[in-house]
Amino acid sequence: MNTLHSIAQLRAALARARQDNKRIGLVPTMGNLHDGHIALVEKALQRTDHVVVSIFVNPLQFGANEDLDSYPRTLAEDQRKLLDAGAHVVFAPSVNDMYPEGMQGHTLISVPVVSEGLCGASRPGHFDGVATVVGKLLNIVQPDLAVFGEKDFQQLAVIRKMAHDLCLPVQIMGAPIVRAADGLALSSRNGYLSDEQRRVAPRLYQTLQQIQQQLVGGRRDFPAIIEEARVALTAAGFQPDYLDLRDAHSLQPVTPNCQDIVILAAAYLGTTRLIDNLQVSLA
Ligand code: PAF
Repeated sequence: MNTLHSIAQLRAALARARQDNKRIGLVPTMGNLHDGHIALVEKALQRTDHVVVSIFVNPLQFGANEDLDSYPRTLAEDQRKLLDAGAHVVFAPSVNDMYPEGMQGHTLISVPVVSEGLCGASRPGHFDGVATVVGKLLNIVQPDLAVFGEKDFQQLAVIRKMAHDLCLPVQIMGAPIVRAADGLALSSRNGYLSDEQRRVAPRLYQTLQQIQQQLVGGRRDFPAIIEEARVALTAAGFQPDYLDLRDAHSLQPVTPNCQDIVILAAAYLGTTRLIDNLQVSLA
């Protein structure tokens, strides 16, 4: 497994792989890898011959008051995990490699509608930063397949729409959320939680499961379901950011006849913002 830092080195390595008729897979990450990321790598390895994992904490997708500086950077440990997983190339560019003229004035990819609301409401500009860096990574690597986690459900929808609208010749694939034994969705940000917060954190998923049961049981008074869950989360010690039911395909607000629903939540425990989601099929 090679770790490459420059775009030119990576392109040269990928040109050789392509000459050997290898199908290229890409798993974009911000590093600090956990089993959820490794599941993405495994998915890419099952479907392609040459898997590139990018590790880049993208400043363009962080707001002014967010955790860019404290975001965990653990390259050596990540490299060990990727070697064990069987990845072929780690692409770990610097900010200067990715934004040599700086981020001010850089071309932005903006995906309207699907980027609005939910995480887009509390993180203005976040999805422009994500779409722009993912667009760049897709252009740099030119993979046949790129794999993203479904924990960031809205992000995946934004990336799918961008790839579709810009006719990018890549298959975008989602991979299911990987959870700890107690149900908490794995996330690099879980490392910010105190022991007490970590004990409370699984209540977020439990709340989504309760909503799921109510929907499956036939309840359709959506606003009341959401309000009750919001009260329960608050009582458990969370500060809910949003809790919402959306059409799982369009991400538009749910309607009474909707068959595939996604329950989406973001909530703070102290200063740590956790997100999670759960899909419900009522077909
Ligand atoms: O999900 C992430 O880790 C990031 O948003 C991504 C897709 C790697 C873009 O920086």
